[in-house]
Amino acid sequence: MAAATVNKSAHEFDKGNLDSMLTRRFFFAPAFEIYGGVAGLYDYGPTGSALQANVLNEWRRHYIIEEDMLELDTTIMTLSEVLKTSGHVEKFADWMVKDSKNGEIYRADHLVEAVLEARLKGDKEARGIKLDEVVEEDDKKKKKKKVKSTAVKLEDSEVAEYESILAQIDNYTGPQLGELVRKFNITNPTTGNELTEPVEFNLMFESNIGPTGHIKGFLRPETAQGHFVNFARLLEFNNGKVPFASAQIGRSFRNEIAPRQGLLRVREFTMAEIEHYVDPLDKRHARFNEVKDVVLTLLAKDIQVQGRTDTVQMTVGDAVGQGIVDNETLGYFLGRTQLFLTKIGIDPKRLRCRQHMANEMAHYAADCWDFEIQSSYGWIECVGCADRSAYDLTVHSVRTKQPLRVQQRLETPRVVEKLDVQFDAKAFGMKFKKDAATIRNTITGLDEERLQCLKDELDKAGVSGVKCADGKVYEVTPDLVKINPITVTEHMRDFTPNVIEPSFGIGRILYSLLEHSYWAREQDKARGVLSFPVNVAPIKVLIVSISNDPKLTEIVYELTRKLRKLGIASRVDDSSVSIGKKYARNDELGTPFGITVDFATVQNGTVTIRERDTTSQYIGKIDDVLSTVDELVKGNVDWAGAAGKLEVYSGVQDVAE
Ligand code: ATP
Ligand code: GLY
Repeated sequence: MAAATVNKSAHEFDKGNLDSMLTRRFFFAPAFEIYGGVAGLYDYGPTGSALQANVLNEWRRHYIIEEDMLELDTTIMTLSEVLKTSGHVEKFADWMVKDSKNGEIYRADHLVEAVLEARLKGDKEARGIKLDEVVEEDDKKKKKKKVKSTAVKLEDSEVAEYESILAQIDNYTGPQLGELVRKFNITNPTTGNELTEPVEFNLMFESNIGPTGHIKGFLRPETAQGHFVNFARLLEFNNGKVPFASAQIGRSFRNEIAPRQGLLRVREFTMAEIEHYVDPLDKRHARFNEVKDVVLTLLAKDIQVQGRTDTVQMTVGDAVGQGIVDNETLGYFLGRTQLFLTKIGIDPKRLRCRQHMANEMAHYAADCWDFEIQSSYGWIECVGCADRSAYDLTVHSVRTKQPLRVQQRLETPRVVEKLDVQFDAKAFGMKFKKDAATIRNTITGLDEERLQCLKDELDKAGVSGVKCADGKVYEVTPDLVKINPITVTEHMRDFTPNVIEPSFGIGRILYSLLEHSYWAREQDKARGVLSFPVNVAPIKVLIVSISNDPKLTEIVYELTRKLRKLGIASRVDDSSVSIGKKYARNDELGTPFGITVDFATVQNGTVTIRERDTTSQYIGKIDDVLSTVDELVKGNVDWAGAAGKLEVYSGVQDVAE
């Protein structure tokens, strides 16, 4: 085959062109657009939906099937008690600041970030802020007031300070963001008015379940809690053994303060989440060897707290070996995720793993790495890989009194020292009456450390207070309860598993993929192409006919029937434009192959097949071309490899009119 070289960087990336193409070809559009739309809500059209379905299909294959994960589909409407227990009701919040006069709202960290970035760039307009990225859409419509521009000229030392703050922007608490607002004299960029101190805004949408209004619920902000509340059943399904993983694809909702940046920050989105349950004393992974040579681009937390953003390239094996990534299982999922993202077409050069700094870590997490993808919006978190430790299973177990624990038979029994608790049942009952059982259960439910504290106090002071779930404190004395060390032989071990969680935001991945796949033909900037890998392309084959002659149309029909039978998505373009134009239109949809039917097809049964990126073509008998397409779609062969089966064709000029 004539090796066609394709220059995909002849033109600079043009976001305007991509955006208009995505709208024109209905990848996605604002929801309720004919009513004016609502910020942060989008509908996917036929191409966007097919692309998403194919990405999810790959995800299912890469994780659920490849790793025997247990798939779930749990409810979106979530009982408020569940999210109270998980900590989301109290802590799932972002910081916002308000214009002290007109009440306009900004997300505090994004505002500080945007202002400092703009000042670094020497932006003199509107107090150095790109409104689009931080202002709620509705607010934006209300005012168009021009404010006096304030040019900012920065000294070298200030530049260094700004850069250092930006490198750690995710690490600031609300009060610290307030200090930054004051220190850098950040005001409402549109009015110049002062801003209030940051206040927390909970991101969950609240609702009532049923007509009485007594049962409160929330639309879930993550799918994860649905996994945890089903842990006991999942464990039983897995014959009581860890490690294993559950997986779920579904919608989540977050009432984002300022949902701009297109699909990257929305209020309703598809997540794909894995919860991998592992023995806290053994976080090795049986398949670690398979990913140990995968190279990651790492931005560790100690670099960021120094105000730097330089990355290192390192294999998963080295990152875990040197303790940069905490354990094998976390490393395993980083490696697998790198493979997944590049397999669906994310450019590895625009992919990095950034470790969370202490303050930015979610309330449940012990260590966390984000896969960030670079696009025209900067580096954006698209997959979070967190070690949630035993946090969730423990809090749900304490709240519901259900044992969300693993019982493991020990290969060799072990002798352990424990604290044994004995009650004087009669005296205890007489003293505490109806509360006796509650107090007894509270004491026997204490862990070893707390039991030891109780024992120490009883030994020293001869009395100790026991706080029960009702909030009351009861005084117990050594004549009522005796705590003594004993030696026992254990045959079973009992533990709460730790959870390693890769959490994927599918919309963010999808948008990044669109940017990474987009380029324009060298000869014409307006001829956009989306170079999706075959596995995720919405439509795999375009079918065109050189004429409307019924003999040719009959063959087109036959081709579509055969492709359907092979399970390959195809599309006939029977419009009246030229073949070149048809090719160009389908390049915009990212369709990798185009089969053309012409009069030679009628005479000798041959069709041509064109590849999207190179525009090169082969010719062959219909069934040979179809079996080649089948191999190409399955990924068994690439375009160069298909040359062995078909002949090079150079009879058609591939130009759009
Ligand atoms: P951010 O800091 O950008 O708000 P986050 O830290 O809250 O994100 P996570 O809670 O870790 O994000 O959510 C897991 C994944 O869900 C993210 O990696 C991202 O891909 C996706 N995600 C979160 N919020 C949104 C959103 N508003 N719109 C689209 N995707 C989102
Ligand atoms: N389940 C992880 C998250 O929502 O952040």
